Amino acid sequence: MTNHKKTIKIGLFGFGTVGRGLYQLLQRVPEANLVLSRVCVRDVARHQAEAPELIFTTDPLEVLDDPDIDLIVELIDDADAAYRIVTESLRRQLPVVTGNKKMLAHHLPELIKLQQEMQTALLYDASACGSIPVIRNLEEYYDNDLQISVKGILNGSSNFILSKIFNEGMSHAEALRLARELGFLESDPTLDLDGWDSLFKLVILALHAFGVYVNPERVFTYGITHMNDSDILFAREKERRIKLIGLAEKTPDGRLVMGVMPHLISRNKYIYSCEDEFNGVVIKGLFYGKQFLVGRGAGGHPTSSAVLSDISAIRYDYFYRYKRMHSQGGLPEFSNDLSFRVYVRYNTEADLELLKFEDITERYISEETRYVVGRVNLATLHAIRNELAERKIFIAAYPAD
Ligand code: HSE
Repeated sequence: MTNHKKTIKIGLFGFGTVGRGLYQLLQRVPEANLVLSRVCVRDVARHQAEAPELIFTTDPLEVLDDPDIDLIVELIDDADAAYRIVTESLRRQLPVVTGNKKMLAHHLPELIKLQQEMQTALLYDASACGSIPVIRNLEEYYDNDLQISVKGILNGSSNFILSKIFNEGMSHAEALRLARELGFLESDPTLDLDGWDSLFKLVILALHAFGVYVNPERVFTYGITHMNDSDILFAREKERRIKLIGLAEKTPDGRLVMGVMPHLISRNKYIYSCEDEFNGVVIKGLFYGKQFLVGRGAGGHPTSSAVLSDISAIRYDYFYRYKRMHSQGGLPEFSNDLSFRVYVRYNTEADLELLKFEDITERYISEETRYVVGRVNLATLHAIRNELAERKIFIAAYPAD
């Protein structure tokens, strides 16, 4: 794709929030010289009315086998179908841009291999943190320092909901409704609220930051579904905010620890002021210290601008080199063995036994609520994750500062 002046013909899969966003964006930037040649969707009639001049089809092969198409953009919801589209495109040596974080988080190793075999680019900056160019920064800019951690708010809709509850006193249900209206939520909102969407993004970021692929099933993931008013009260009393955080961190003894869960964030942290649908990622390296990337993490227009940026990068023959995976110094080993302080609101004494506290430093019991603060091990939390949810326990990391 070295002819930069040539009009690039795009085969688009999906015309949902981000697909439509891309369509609107391309109308505003004709100088980008990009044309949506064919669009594959489930319901042609519905979308044809929205964009009469586009050619819609329900047949993926009409797009993949069109000899005029230069590049595929995959923006559908279904991870299995997305996997088939992406692999079929790469096999045809058609470069692909995808935003499907679930598909990437489950298939990255084989996709990396396939793109290398086929010498064809697969770019996906739009899959993690919407408009923030975090993957390309990890690949190109932060690849020379000793990486310590990548931590942040990776899900826009849960942050939006938390902000509305904390700052405007909105109910959980009302904030959820608004997030849906604004197009921030996944079609299955439990992906956002229970932390899975953050997990998928974290797996992608960890691969680019540390060169290690970690299967999502190995990572403790817990969301904000069971948060209630007493948790908000606790956070306020301690002058903290509850944020859903994804964290990948190298321990001093060289292991890689990862997790997604609510954190009680103090005012002195960058991400304390990261509100609404914004995402914020703090990248820490040995020599540069900390850097904070912030931007809109959800919504059709911000995410489609990341898609456009990936399309442009392909036009200039850019591809991820996965430099960290080939690092000379050896790669950190993934581990869940980490002891840390948590706040836990629970219902019965049996709930507490389940958590196997190493120590308890604060305990509160009233008619309305009961909570403890103490140290637990991440491996224990991972082992009991489903029981925590079944028992509607709320748990948040509660760091000292
Ligand atoms: N549902 C996702 C979020 C969309 O809220 O962050 C962007 O990935």
